[in-house]
Amino acid sequence: MAQQPDQELGQVLVVIPTYNERDNIGKIVKRLHTALPDVHVLVVDDGSPDGTGQLADEMAAADQRVHVMHRTEKAGLGAAYVAGFQWALEREYGVVCEMDADGSHAPEQLHRLLDALPQADLVIGSRWVPGGEVVNWPVQREVLSRGGSLYSRIALGANIRDMTGGFRAFRADTLRKLNLASVASAGYCFQIDLLWRTIELGFRVREVPITFREREYGESKMSGNIVREALIRVTKWGLRRRGNQLRELFAGKRK
Ligand code: GDD
Ligand code: MN
Repeated sequence: MAQQPDQELGQVLVVIPTYNERDNIGKIVKRLHTALPDVHVLVVDDGSPDGTGQLADEMAAADQRVHVMHRTEKAGLGAAYVAGFQWALEREYGVVCEMDADGSHAPEQLHRLLDALPQADLVIGSRWVPGGEVVNWPVQREVLSRGGSLYSRIALGANIRDMTGGFRAFRADTLRKLNLASVASAGYCFQIDLLWRTIELGFRVREVPITFREREYGESKMSGNIVREALIRVTKWGLRRRGNQLRELFAGKRK
């Protein structure tokens, strides 16, 4: 396997989950390979009715850097990433990235994440640190995202600005420790779930600024169910954390 010239971390794989992204997937992979010719791509398609999976197969047949995983039904972003990460960890990748298919994450900025990885175990492309921004996002989405990050920060006591961002670079060795088989988050709270696991294990998390641009083609898969799942799970994790803190406090007093 080809190594990244300036990376001692090993071969880079970018996992791209897709559901009905036919108008986007070709463009995004092309931009990625123009920016970073050596990275590999794994498209994880949930049987998109619009034929995204077939198009990805054609791309893979023409380019050995491109791989495709077909799943039978739409089972959520979290489930797609877990399957993609497991595929990656069975192979010789040193770095595993997350990126949306719809152009919201600029492949031209992925190097910012990779450049920060030597000093971190997980790097998050962040909208909410100085230098980060969102372009063309409806105001209700910005409120939801900022609110979701703030609530998660408070509930979990985490010092990360963009808790839900989906532009990330993990060391494969970090992912190996996260017990992916036990991840039950189906929707976008998968992002908070993995970040929380990473923090709890004491890994180093860094945020680098990115520009998040609303998609031009196709539709967001965000839904009320996705928000509800996130709210319930984050609240549960937060309460468990407080419970553990109290237990430690009382155990300390008894000594
Ligand atoms: N395989 C698969 N299965 N892919 C999915 C599914 C699914 O059930 N749901 C969404 N995706 C893919 C989309 O096709 C796209 O490539 C990516 O996941 C992101 O989905 P969007 O629907 O475009 O997300 P968004 O723009 O509303 O949300 C963005 O912001 C969220 C909140 O910050 C994303 O960056 C999310 O990752 C992020 O959590
Ligand atoms: Mn999107």
